[in-house]
Amino acid sequence: MKLLKLFTENEDINNLYKRQREESLDFKGIPASSGIYGIHPYPAMFHFMIVRKFIKELTKEGDYILDPFCGSGVSAVEALKNNRNYFGFDINPLAILITKVRTTPINIERLLNVLDNILKMPVQNYEIPYFDNIHYWFEEKVIEKLAKLRAKIFKIDDIKIQNFFKVVFSETVRKVSNSDPNEFKLIKRKIHKELNVEKIFAEIAKKNILCLLDISNLNTKSEIIVEQKNVLDGLPLEDESIDLVITSPPYGDSKTTVAYDQFSKLSLKWLGLYDNFEKFQLGYKLKNIDLDLPSEELYKCLYEIEKKDKKRAKEVYSFYYDLYFAIKQISKKVKTGGHVIFVVGNRTVKGIELPTDKICADFFKQYDFIHEITLVRQISNKRMPVQTSPTNIKGQKASTMKYEYIVILKKI
Ligand SMILES: C[S@@+](CC[C@H](N)C(=O)[O-])C[C@H]1O[C@@H](n2cnc3c(N)ncnc32)[C@H](O)[C@@H]1O
Repeated sequence: MKLLKLFTENEDINNLYKRQREESLDFKGIPASSGIYGIHPYPAMFHFMIVRKFIKELTKEGDYILDPFCGSGVSAVEALKNNRNYFGFDINPLAILITKVRTTPINIERLLNVLDNILKMPVQNYEIPYFDNIHYWFEEKVIEKLAKLRAKIFKIDDIKIQNFFKVVFSETVRKVSNSDPNEFKLIKRKIHKELNVEKIFAEIAKKNILCLLDISNLNTKSEIIVEQKNVLDGLPLEDESIDLVITSPPYGDSKTTVAYDQFSKLSLKWLGLYDNFEKFQLGYKLKNIDLDLPSEELYKCLYEIEKKDKKRAKEVYSFYYDLYFAIKQISKKVKTGGHVIFVVGNRTVKGIELPTDKICADFFKQYDFIHEITLVRQISNKRMPVQTSPTNIKGQKASTMKYEYIVILKKI
């Protein structure tokens, strides 16, 4: 479909969308991976201080929090630490595994004993998994060592301890594969030196045991429920049951933004958990552009992108189409008077910045929400591959800075 220019040329639309630069939310000098958040990296992870602030300000003990795109479970940990009940969903099985481990206190002595056993126990029977390109992504010797470690982890009876070591194993896989561990995408690197797989595994295990100390003495009353789920299938919760949704949806389709599937694939293949989840990520299925989404801001961008590249315009539309449907599912679950905190990044496609914060505000307004404000923070750590350019924030240089937009909405 060729988009006709139906919208009005705009004036100062930013005031309408109440963007406010909030330096106090930059949390410069406090790494997002402090404490428990040092267990397993994850792309575009929340800064825990943001989640902590809004949970404390907008909910009380015993309230219900939902994160439908929970990723590595920062919101889950903060709910646990602050005695809030929590539902977390994500399409990525690795995200669910990490979230469970980050929210499960385990006796440190037991973990150290099991680690000792894993390292000393001889293993007779072990299987080499078969998956495409295993020999491309792993050296022969590395495959054998990983297969032995995996066999020992699968034998652990206690599921909580087994999950803990599966996460250690996943981090080890990232470190010892031929893919660059500093990239989210699978990108081949050169490995020159002999890798000591057991030593790397032991170091990661000890690091993660220390991280777990962060939650080991918690005396919490929270109920934390975490499940693999595609938000587009609807959420298994009662309508109007949630006090606060705090979440960060993907920034765009995974092919052109953060590749959660590539980030997780090798670990999931080794753990036998890979299930083609990427096919259900927002924006995966291409749709023809239609005028059915309630955001003039979106159509302005699509109009400009379509002039340059029709296929890209269609991809962008498909992502927002799914995001709109996800917002519909999420909105139903929020109590009247409850809040939604949507943390988004505004990426650029074909030189056009997509104002996802404004588009989301438009979408939520369709479902009985008022947009209270959007707070803009600078991201100080380099955890996202996409550069954003907030050209319309007063007093900011645009080119090299990265910003995150915290869209605050209330159900009326
Ligand atoms: C920005 S990340 C969330 C990161 C998270 N806030 C954290 O602190 O780790 C977005 C998440 O959305 C998930 N996702 C993408 N499509 C989804 C879908 N259809 N249903 C549920 N989750 C989905 C991705 O797997 C990814 O973990």
